[in-house]
Amino acid sequence: MNSQIEGYSLLDSGDGRKLERFGDVVVDRPSSLSAWRRRNDAIWESADAVYSPPDRWETERASFSSWKASVAGVELELELMSNGQLGIFPEHALYLPRIGSALEQFRSRGSKPVRVLNLFAYTGLATAFCAKHGDVLVTHVDLAKRAIDWAKQNVQLNTSASDRVRWIVDDALAFMAREARKSNVYDIIIIDPPSFSRVSKNASWTLEEKTPDIVNLVLDVLAPEAGVVFFTNHSAASTSDVARNIALDRFSDQGVQIAIEPLSLKEERTERTMPAGSLITLSHTS
Ligand SMILES: C[S@@+](CC[C@H](N)C(=O)[O-])C[C@H]1O[C@@H](n2cnc3c(N)ncnc32)[C@H](O)[C@@H]1O
Repeated sequence: MNSQIEGYSLLDSGDGRKLERFGDVVVDRPSSLSAWRRRNDAIWESADAVYSPPDRWETERASFSSWKASVAGVELELELMSNGQLGIFPEHALYLPRIGSALEQFRSRGSKPVRVLNLFAYTGLATAFCAKHGDVLVTHVDLAKRAIDWAKQNVQLNTSASDRVRWIVDDALAFMAREARKSNVYDIIIIDPPSFSRVSKNASWTLEEKTPDIVNLVLDVLAPEAGVVFFTNHSAASTSDVARNIALDRFSDQGVQIAIEPLSLKEERTERTMPAGSLITLSHTS
């Protein structure tokens, strides 16, 4: 997988922090994974915003709290959120070209519009990418209204065709179960479940315990004999193997290709990489 992302760089990392550039803005944030040394002390002076948990941002420019950036060709509104997030997990830009190729394949087979399901879809990087490419109907599902509103803004920055996206504020599992009952299926499913989800005041789950249900539901709503799944996770390595084995059982080892690969962000000027979970790609063999 090409590790270069247009508009994003991991400039340096180490001593429990990472220094990243998103568009024109350089951000210095904590990173529990960075258990090595910084390579370039001077470059850290270029940070426009420095985050200290639990909720403090120091910015060079007084009134600066949000900005527009083009990441992997997708226009996004980014924001210094009080929890240290910015509205993008850059590793998801790594496999956008694969999603683009899958869209092309479906189009060349005459599937129009291509039916895309984006689950736990956050601020809509993949939704905006797909919507921009035309001839799609993206169903974007997220439990948080705030994330959906942000994603709507991001889609508007990329296309005026707002009818290419259907917005669903709901629990992704409940939504898939409903779609399965109605026999609604999708050509491409993009899914990035969190390690922990609080679905309501009284209900929560960990990805470890929900992986079998999630994988079975995804396969219930995947177009038979043609669908493609991009499943990412940041949990223990076992999640990917559990997901793979359940999928192999469902397809009796035949007719399906499943690849598991690490997602990692390469530093701009070194050979070092920042681990960022894993990607499982499932596609039918034709
Ligand atoms: C992109 S995922 C998390 C990404 C990252 N892989 C992690 O492990 O933290 C976060 C998104 O999932 C949404 N989310 C959490 N639980 C959900 C659920 N049960 N159904 C739908 N969306 C959910 C959140 O609102 C948020 O926008």
